[in-house]
Amino acid sequence: MTCFLKLRDAMTQKATLLEQSAFLKACRREKTPYTPIWLMRQAGRYMKEYRDLRAKTPFLELCKNKDLATEITVSAQEKIGADAAIIFSDILLIVEPFGLGLEYIKGDGPSVARVRSARDIEALPEIDPKESLSFVMDAIRQTRQALRPDVPLIGFAGAPFTLASYMIEGGPSDDFLATKGLMRGEPELWKKLMAKITHATIKYLSAQIEAGVQAVQIFDSWVGCLSAEEYEKSVFPYSQHVILGLKSKVPVIHFGTNTPHLLSLMSKAGGDVIGVDHRIQLDEAWKRIGWDKAVQGNLDPKILCSSVSEIKKHVEAILRQAGSRPGHIFNLGHGVLPETPVENVIALVDMVHDLSRR
Ligand code: CP3
Repeated sequence: MTCFLKLRDAMTQKATLLEQSAFLKACRREKTPYTPIWLMRQAGRYMKEYRDLRAKTPFLELCKNKDLATEITVSAQEKIGADAAIIFSDILLIVEPFGLGLEYIKGDGPSVARVRSARDIEALPEIDPKESLSFVMDAIRQTRQALRPDVPLIGFAGAPFTLASYMIEGGPSDDFLATKGLMRGEPELWKKLMAKITHATIKYLSAQIEAGVQAVQIFDSWVGCLSAEEYEKSVFPYSQHVILGLKSKVPVIHFGTNTPHLLSLMSKAGGDVIGVDHRIQLDEAWKRIGWDKAVQGNLDPKILCSSVSEIKKHVEAILRQAGSRPGHIFNLGHGVLPETPVENVIALVDMVHDLSRR
């Protein structure tokens, strides 16, 4: 056999291993031998290895250093035995090429320059994330090589609403007053801002797919602060546009929190898998989402800070609600909390595998 054919065979074999992974099968709602599990923020401050690295290096530098980002991503997946890895990065990195600066301030969270006026919005440049965020794509390429060949890698971005909220508020917010003010009071400006973010996000996620991720997650973490009417009018079209813009190249996970009232609309906006938080029972959520979609969730992250026996009770309840239907990916309702004992996370992964084996 020629060298070329051998190489092609090896590549096909690797692609098949990934395609047949429990995680990607569940994304496609195919039967799996057990329920796959990964956790939002599975690489982070609850792990000693991460805290040790962080003691020496600022968070943004970890994200921008492909060797460190690879190490953090791969070691977390291996340590907990998750069925997928998520690239170590942050939804806010994209605001830097927009010219808004980005700082993570201890105790206060992220801080960016505020975008509120017509002038601010006009001034946002057209960005090319493949160039300006090339370190993310480098980290993806390197991580794909470093992961076990049957472990899918997930890329991600913030959804237009959640990103807009950080850009308008300048950081985290409890009430999203300025964001809602612009959305309700200046609908034309809102549209311009959302269109710019949408356009950049499609390019960013497409570059991640090209670099080698097997699925992407869109984080609309704060969208639950809106009513269904507001969501439908001012957010739905942009989230839908992002998902359509990815042209079904890889499965899309569409996630938000505080969303019981929005699940059916989020499902309609798009996504192969809908992320469900812990404020609703999984079976009720699935009904609202539609049985023709896969679901991801939904253990309350706080439960991981209790005992293994308590965790087991909740895992059993969630698996019962999923009812062995194909298309359930186990996850938390939101990210792992920094206070979480790592041994509880490892116990959770094993427990989900054991209790769901069929
Ligand atoms: O393991 C993974 O899930 C991948 C890494 C990841 C991070 N951020 C690393 C991170 C992912 C997927 C994110 C997404 C993200 N970032 C979201 C959406 C998910 C969610 O939690 O709702 C949001 C809203 C952000 C923005 C952000 N980044 C905030 C508000 C903060 C500060 C508060 C906090 O949780 O620390 C960050 C910082 C951040 N992002 C850290 C990590 C590991 C902590 C940085 C540190 O070490 O100090």
